[in-house]
Amino acid sequence: MKPYGVLIHGAGWISTQHIAAYRQNPATRVVAISSRRLASARREADAAGLEGIGIYDDFAQALRHKGVDIVSVCTPQHVHCENVVAAAQAGKHLVIEKPAGLSPRELRRMQRAVREAGVKTVVSFVLRWNPLFQMLKRMIAGGAVGRVYCVEADYLSHNGGWWSGWNDTRTRKNGVSAMLVAGCHAVDALRWFAAPGESEAANPVEVFALAGGYRKGRATAYDPTRNAWIRNARPMEYDGLEEALVRFDNGVIGKVSVHFDCVMPYRFPIRIFGDRGTIFDNRVWSHHFPGQTDWIELPAIQPDSSDVGHHPFNAQIDHFVDCLRRGIESHCNLADAIKTHQVVFAALECYRTRRPVRIAAAAFS
Ligand SMILES: NC(=O)c1ccc[n+]([C@@H]2O[C@H](COP(=O)([O-])OP(=O)(O)OC[C@H]3O[C@@H](n4cnc5c(N)ncnc54)[C@H](OP(=O)(O)O)[C@@H]3O)[C@@H](O)[C@H]2O)c1
Repeated sequence: MKPYGVLIHGAGWISTQHIAAYRQNPATRVVAISSRRLASARREADAAGLEGIGIYDDFAQALRHKGVDIVSVCTPQHVHCENVVAAAQAGKHLVIEKPAGLSPRELRRMQRAVREAGVKTVVSFVLRWNPLFQMLKRMIAGGAVGRVYCVEADYLSHNGGWWSGWNDTRTRKNGVSAMLVAGCHAVDALRWFAAPGESEAANPVEVFALAGGYRKGRATAYDPTRNAWIRNARPMEYDGLEEALVRFDNGVIGKVSVHFDCVMPYRFPIRIFGDRGTIFDNRVWSHHFPGQTDWIELPAIQPDSSDVGHHPFNAQIDHFVDCLRRGIESHCNLADAIKTHQVVFAALECYRTRRPVRIAAAAFS
C-alpha cells in the first residue's frame, strides 16, 4: 500500500521524536516540514537525513504540499487550535501534541472542525504507550487488583529554561496553568487507570482542586538536568503546585498533582488501589499470587524521565497508523483527550469559586 505522507509542523524538540517515529514505520513517509522559521524546518530535515522533502515557513502552503495525508502538530500549545482547524479543513488526519488547546472554547472549535471534516486524530498523551502503563493496564483488565476504587498520579518536574518550550509556556496567557502545560499527563494517567478495559479511559464527573506552592513570580529557578540554581530566570506566571481530587462516573476516586516547584529529578509516581490488590509504580501486590511475601517488581521501562527521547512515540504512531488502516478511532482521539482537559479547566474554575465543579457529559460535544 502507498505510505501515508506526513507533514511535521513546528520544528522544535518534540518534532525530532515525531520524525523518528514516522521513519521507523514503513507505512509512513515524512514529505514536508514547516515551522515559523525556514531554518528550523531545514535543520530538522538535515538532522534526520530527509532529502527532497518540502520545507516551508507558511503553514497554508505546506498543507497544499502534494501527498500530505497526516499532519503532526508540534507547535507550542497556544497555536494548536488554529493549526488543527486549518489542517482538518484541508482534510488531513492529525497527530496533536498535548495540551490540545488553551480553553474549552478552543477545544470546541477544534472538535467541530475535526468532526465536520471527518478526519481522524490522536492526542499525544504518549504515556498510554509506555511499556509499564501497558503492562499495568493489561493486569487491571485481567483482574490482578480486583475492582479499582482509587488511583493516584503525580507529575513532578521543575520545568524551566532547560526546556526549549518553556518561554512559550511559562506565561499565564500562553501556558495557562502547570496542570495544562504538563500535569495533564498525570490527569490522563488517572483516567487511563481508573477504567477497567484495556483500551479505555474513565469519564471524570466531579473535580475539587487547590493551587499554591512558592515559585510563581520568582526569578530563581532550579535546573534538575544539571543540579544547578539559576538566577535572573524569567518567572513563571501561574502557581507551580496544583492538587486535584477527581470523581469518575464508575465511582473511582482519583488524586492527582503537578509540581513545577519541586527540587528533585523528574518523577511520575503511580498508585492503583483495588479490592484485591495494589500497584505502586512497577510493584504489584495481588490476589493472583496468594503466597506472595514481598512486592513483585515488574521489569519494565517506567515513566521516570522528562527527556522526550524516552517517550514511546514509536508505539503511539504505530497505533495511529493502525487506526487509519482499519478506519477506526483511537482511544486517545481528540474527543477522548478533551475529557482530560476538562479536569484541568474544572480545577481552574475551583480556584475561582472554591467549590467542587461538576463536569457535564455533554460539555464539549
Ligand atoms: N507529549 C509529550 O510528552 C511532550 C513533551 C514535550 C513537549 N510536548 C509538546 O509539544 C509541543 C512543542 O513543544 P517543544 O518542546 O517541541 O517546543 P519547542 O522546542 O519550542 O518547539 C516548538 C517549535 O514550534 C515552532 N513555532 C513556534 N511558534 C510557531 C508558530 N506560530 N508557527 C509555526 N511554528 C512555530 C518553533 O520553531 P521556529 O524555530 O521555527 O521558531 C519551535 O521550535 C508543545 O505543545 C509541548 O507541550 C509534548
